[in-house]
Amino acid sequence: MSLIEIDNLACHFSDGTLALNAINLYIEAGSFVLLAGRNGAGKTTLLRHLNGLILPDSGEVRLEGVPVAQDLARVRQRVGMVFQDADSQIVGETVYDDVAFGPENLCWPDKKIKARVAATLASIGMSELAENRPHTLSGGEKRRLAIAGILVMDPEVIVLDEPFTNLDYPGTAQVLKTIADLHGDGRTIIITTHDIEKVFTLADRMVVMDQGRVVRDGSPLDVVYDVEQYGIRMPCALKVGSEVTAWAS
Ligand SMILES: Nc1ncnc2c1ncn2[C@@H]1O[C@H](COP(=O)(O)OP(=O)(O)O)[C@@H](O)[C@H]1O
Ligand SMILES: [Mg+2]
Repeated sequence: MSLIEIDNLACHFSDGTLALNAINLYIEAGSFVLLAGRNGAGKTTLLRHLNGLILPDSGEVRLEGVPVAQDLARVRQRVGMVFQDADSQIVGETVYDDVAFGPENLCWPDKKIKARVAATLASIGMSELAENRPHTLSGGEKRRLAIAGILVMDPEVIVLDEPFTNLDYPGTAQVLKTIADLHGDGRTIIITTHDIEKVFTLADRMVVMDQGRVVRDGSPLDVVYDVEQYGIRMPCALKVGSEVTAWAS
């Protein structure tokens, strides 16, 4: 059994648009999956099925063998989702309150909340910012705060939708380091991007979507030379490298 199993998943929007079409995908515990595809390919829609924000029209999504629709509370604790717009995920007056929000909603005891929030902030290097107002943080810090807000619940799977949008170089580096650390701790990472350059070397699997379908699935080095036909830019160094090889031969 795989950690996440998606069988023959399809999704229509109310206007009749077929957003996902016959998706079959099994994701192993501890893997790092890069989900790539041009804008509108269906990446976000697929991610939203993983923690039951959208339920399947047809087909099935299972977590540890159990259909997502059967136990949404458990799925949402096990699969943490970092949305594309970090600002929309901010709910607290301070960094501390923001991270404490999920546990407070679950009515954890105060002592446990304090300990978990402190440990979570320490683990992502944000302890000194605990009393800061979230809206004053840098882009990279906001993104890490959003990660902390789900990490505090100790999810097994962390899903990140376009986590590098609008980040500068230092922000991108901070967020990449956080993601690499989470994977190093044994968590399963699923990350979408239309710009694969940033995470390409961290991922152990690359899935390409186009028009609501999975069109490529394999090791990043096998898949990456095929991506341009799907509107994804190849990492610069690989592109130049393959052209150099073509010239030389
Ligand atoms: N609520 C909606 N109603 C109708 N169509 C939608 C809705 N949300 C997304 N879509 C369409 O579904 C397709 C997939 O969108 P999305 O999953 O956001 O793609 P991606 O994340 O890869 O950019 C796109 O064609 C998009 O326009
Ligand atoms: Mg999207």
